Amino acid sequence: MTSNELLKGGVTVRTELAADAPPVLGDRIQLQQVILNLVRNAIDAMSTIGDRPRELLIRSAKDTNSVLIQIEDSGSGLDPEQAERIFEPFFTTKPQGLGMGLSISRSIIEAHGGRLWASPGLSHGAVFQFTLPKADGRR
Ligand SMILES: Nc1ncnc2c1ncn2[C@@H]1O[C@H](COP(=O)(O)OP(=O)(O)O)[C@@H](O)[C@H]1O
Ligand SMILES: [Mg+2]
Repeated sequence: MTSNELLKGGVTVRTELAADAPPVLGDRIQLQQVILNLVRNAIDAMSTIGDRPRELLIRSAKDTNSVLIQIEDSGSGLDPEQAERIFEPFFTTKPQGLGMGLSISRSIIEAHGGRLWASPGLSHGAVFQFTLPKADGRR
């Protein structure tokens, strides 16, 4: 769904997906919406980067009772002062932004019993990650 936007944005994608991740129970469309939001935000955050590769890394990992999904970019990064506000409805730093993507995404993940948060990347950019409880932990 994002291949054309990635191509236009000059972004390369790397995936590191855990082979041993347990199944999760959830609304396929809603979870797709979350990942789409995070990928689009990452593309936007890398659009002004010219002095380093524009890289998107998508990782999944098994946690004790959940699965962890991480979406890391090499973009502009998060202003520490804005780091929590970015999840507020209508908060945007983009001229054409709606500011609803992260707010909706967090609601979706929390409705699935997980958490969604952001942290700075190792050298540049930002990492957005969320957990989803593994299916058999819900019974
Ligand atoms: N990957 C990212 N890197 C840096 N800033 C980000 C990233 N994702 C989101 N943000 C910041 O959070 C704000 C809110 O994001 P979002 O809720 O998706 O709304 P929108 O994309 O419409 O601005 C963005 O305007 C941007 O300032
Ligand atoms: Mg957005």
